[in-house]
Amino acid sequence: MPQQFSIPVLMVDDVPANLVALEALFADLPYQLEAVKALSGEDALRFTLKRDFALILLDVQMPGMNGFEVAELLRANPKTRHVPILFVTAGLHTEKQVFKGYELGAVDYLIKPIVPLVLRSKVRVFCDLFAQRQELEFHRNKLSAQVDEKTAVLTTLTLELATEIGARRDSEERLRMLNEQLESRVEQRTRDLEKALHQVAEAERLAALGGIVASVAHELNTPVGNCVSVASTLQSQAAALARDVEDGRLKRSEFMQFLNDAMSGNEILMRNLRRTSDLVDSFKNVAVDQTTNQRREFDLQQVLEQDIVTLQPMCKKTPFTLHAELQPGIVLDSYPGTMGQILTNFISNAIAHAFENRKEGKMFLSTRLLESDHAEIVFADDGNGIHERHLKHVFDPFFTTKLGQGGSGLGLSIVYNLVTGVLGGKISIESAENHGTKFTLTVPRCAPEIKLA
Ligand SMILES: Nc1ncnc2c1ncn2[C@@H]1O[C@H](COP(=O)(O)OP(=O)(O)OP(=O)(O)O)[C@@H](O)[C@H]1O
Ligand SMILES: [Mg+2]
Repeated sequence: MPQQFSIPVLMVDDVPANLVALEALFADLPYQLEAVKALSGEDALRFTLKRDFALILLDVQMPGMNGFEVAELLRANPKTRHVPILFVTAGLHTEKQVFKGYELGAVDYLIKPIVPLVLRSKVRVFCDLFAQRQELEFHRNKLSAQVDEKTAVLTTLTLELATEIGARRDSEERLRMLNEQLESRVEQRTRDLEKALHQVAEAERLAALGGIVASVAHELNTPVGNCVSVASTLQSQAAALARDVEDGRLKRSEFMQFLNDAMSGNEILMRNLRRTSDLVDSFKNVAVDQTTNQRREFDLQQVLEQDIVTLQPMCKKTPFTLHAELQPGIVLDSYPGTMGQILTNFISNAIAHAFENRKEGKMFLSTRLLESDHAEIVFADDGNGIHERHLKHVFDPFFTTKLGQGGSGLGLSIVYNLVTGVLGGKISIESAENHGTKFTLTVPRCAPEIKLA
């Protein structure tokens, strides 16, 4: 760094001419020297108290306070202890005196006549030292100013950060509270929805009874009608026979014919009445199961066959058929009415959605017992299938592709709840557009106890 300040050197001599001569010696030093001149030891001390010096050139023999005394006082004062002292003397000098000078902390002891080159190079060393010290001081100050500045910035940042942390904590707290409120609202809504779905399932179950009454009437129509016509034929044949007997015109061959007709008529009557009785039994069972939804031990094949009979009228006037492959002997301790309710939904969905705009369609129902003590029930159709983007929503309540066309979108969500809740099982769906739909249910042989909320 170029020297930006002058270097103060204190020259002490009681002879002013000596001081001038000394100053002249330093004229061509590479430093800008500020020569401060003191004509006595007292003056020298006064100057050193006011400011710092790079070096003191101190005459030994002076009237009043001599050089040694000045040096002693300078060394005693912590403020001036470090200032280098160079004794310059012209008088007699003993070795003792020289040692004393060194003892008092002199850095050198020069005796006149002075060799200018020697003095200059010595002074130069101290000027160098002083300049370096000043430079160090300058950097130290600069550094400490920078540290102060950085500390101030850091303090401001810390304060800002603390404020921000506080604000963030506040908003986190608010967010947490909002979340809590939201969670409890969602829980409440979920509970409401579950309750509503439960009510809808109940209503659906009871409504099924109306359907059962209609199908009873429909299904009984044929066998009862057959019975009526056979019975009336037999009645009129018997009346004709009675008249022939009264008139005495009865031929043996005619009597035998009547007996034949009566026996085959009877056979038709028996067959149709048995069919009627079977149908009534099925309807009765299904109606009881569906309306009371009682848990009992039952044969899965038997219950599903009765359900199919009850649901047959749904398909009667359509070109769609249901094929069942039911493994015999699967006995469940569960809810047969629920099975019927699920099957009703599958069949009505197949007719409404799978076979929409189709001239033919097949439904498949199969059951089998799994090793895990579960029964597997599969219902499939070969109809329109379900688009991929709809597939993950079909079990959601109110999801329907028939909005405004009679679809409420509750059918499959009820099925889902019945399978996973009442029956304690699982349900999965596979479907692809135009490749039909397949529902697979796995239900435990023994249904869980129902916990009513
Ligand atoms: N077998 C199927 N084939 C094709 N799509 C089906 C089938 N079953 C259900 N879906 C689709 O799933 C949707 C939801 O069925 P879900 O039974 O829940 O409601 P919905 O039949 O539309 O109305 P709801 O049953 O309440 O009268 C239907 O709208 C339909 O798009
Ligand atoms: Mg439906």
